[in-house]
Amino acid sequence: MRTDLSFSPLAQIETELLAVTAVDTQAAKGPDVRLQPVLLTSDEAVRAAAAAVLSSGEYKAGTNEAVLLHAPAGLKAKRLLIVGLGKKSKATVHAVRNAAGTAVRYTKPRTIRDLTFALPEDNSIGLLHAMARAAIEGAFVGDFDADTYRSERKDVSVHSFTLAAPFSGDQAAIRTAFNEGVIIGESQNFARTLVNEPGNKLTPTVLGQRAAQMASETGLKWEVHSTDKLHELKMGAFWSVSQGSAEPPALIVMKYEPEGVTDGPVLGLVGKGITFDTGGISIKPADNMEKMKYDMAGGAAMIGAMRAIALLKPKVRVIGIVCAAENMPDGKAQKPGDVQTAMSGKTIEIINTDAEGRLVLADGITYARRLGATHLIDAATLTGACVVALGMINAGAFSNDDATFEKFRSALSTSGEKFWRMPLADEYYDMIRSDIGDIKNTGGRWGGAITAAEFLHAFAEDTPWIHLDIAGLAWIEDNKPFIAKGPSGVAVRSILEWVRSYES
Ligand code: BES
Ligand code: MN
Ligand code: ZN
Repeated sequence: MRTDLSFSPLAQIETELLAVTAVDTQAAKGPDVRLQPVLLTSDEAVRAAAAAVLSSGEYKAGTNEAVLLHAPAGLKAKRLLIVGLGKKSKATVHAVRNAAGTAVRYTKPRTIRDLTFALPEDNSIGLLHAMARAAIEGAFVGDFDADTYRSERKDVSVHSFTLAAPFSGDQAAIRTAFNEGVIIGESQNFARTLVNEPGNKLTPTVLGQRAAQMASETGLKWEVHSTDKLHELKMGAFWSVSQGSAEPPALIVMKYEPEGVTDGPVLGLVGKGITFDTGGISIKPADNMEKMKYDMAGGAAMIGAMRAIALLKPKVRVIGIVCAAENMPDGKAQKPGDVQTAMSGKTIEIINTDAEGRLVLADGITYARRLGATHLIDAATLTGACVVALGMINAGAFSNDDATFEKFRSALSTSGEKFWRMPLADEYYDMIRSDIGDIKNTGGRWGGAITAAEFLHAFAEDTPWIHLDIAGLAWIEDNKPFIAKGPSGVAVRSILEWVRSYES
């Protein structure tokens, strides 16, 4: 998708489709109050073209509600699309992100190949440059479809997306934000492309190759290791997951070291990269098992975030680690009751081989600390229990450090993603104490997302650390107006923003 920025008057823009936003201003004051939706542009010609449909009562400017007008009089655009931001009081920068995505997804199946999206002219929603960045991100998010392997892919991509911003805005700031939006949107889609790949195409080795290629292209240092290195580093927890698979594991390490930055924090990003999770000997039921190709979404989020970091160049050092393996049942697979020794020296009693994500992450976290990480963030499709707790609306977030978590919370207001903080406590840790060794890899049915987090906590120890359980959000079950069903790329934007908050 090509992207352009325009400061021309909307009526003058030649485009297949001009998208503008509107808000619902109706006050809930009884049946007689019927205020019409308000268009968020000062362009008189556009206002005139939209006047009839806005006063008709047929269009309410609800969230992502769209109406299309052909051959709008007085405009050079061939079509005018109005996209709702919902209630005026609730219109946010994130609503603009989704509106841009909605415009793209409206356009794609109609084989319209170019469109222009006008930023709302309403400074109560947010700063123009913030909206510009969000709109571009939303456009890329909307442009992605999961049908990679369909013989006839009809709507592969919108060719050109132009962002129209008011001439009076701070043009330099808008352009910078626009460029950032392109990098971030493309990085999120890069992560989604990886998550979408089936397990036979994207093995741990291939995931390593994709990360390495990205790293080479963007100037990151990288290393991809396999079995021998796992043994050398004594990564007994990570290895125990991969030992039952014919596919060798991949320990993916990406390093971002900005010039001139030799002190300050070193951020460690650790992702779960299970390219397929059968459950192992504690095998999963057949229903929905095919979805477990997305069990590397946490790892993909880290690879996507590292891409954005490499291109945006914040002044802070970052190490990205992805622990990639395939969890299979086999004659060589680990068994319930086995005891494994993690890289940290802790002994782990395996209760359930399907609780494999925490095993690979345990060694990934230890390795990140060994490499000098002062602050950690991990992302993983870790537990079904987290989905039970929070549904598919919020992902789970855990932290052993309030200050570190506050930085993440602020990042969310920029990323527009929803994470909900969940508790940690010693009493939960007590649930995973082992009789035979130090720790068990499951703590029973109750509080399953939390005992999983406490398991990771035992390896992060006192290093400030955030754990993101994205099991419920990494895969979108149904199409939405602004995003296709399939891989979401969740956490890329939030992790990036958290990293940027440490810039010196
Ligand atoms: N990858 C799964 C978690 C998962 C479930 C991700 C649903 C996405 C959607 C993880 O490895 C797993 O199997 N977890 C088990 C843990 C249990 C055995 C303690 C679970 O959640 O059932
Ligand atoms: Mn599992
Ligand atoms: Zn898993």
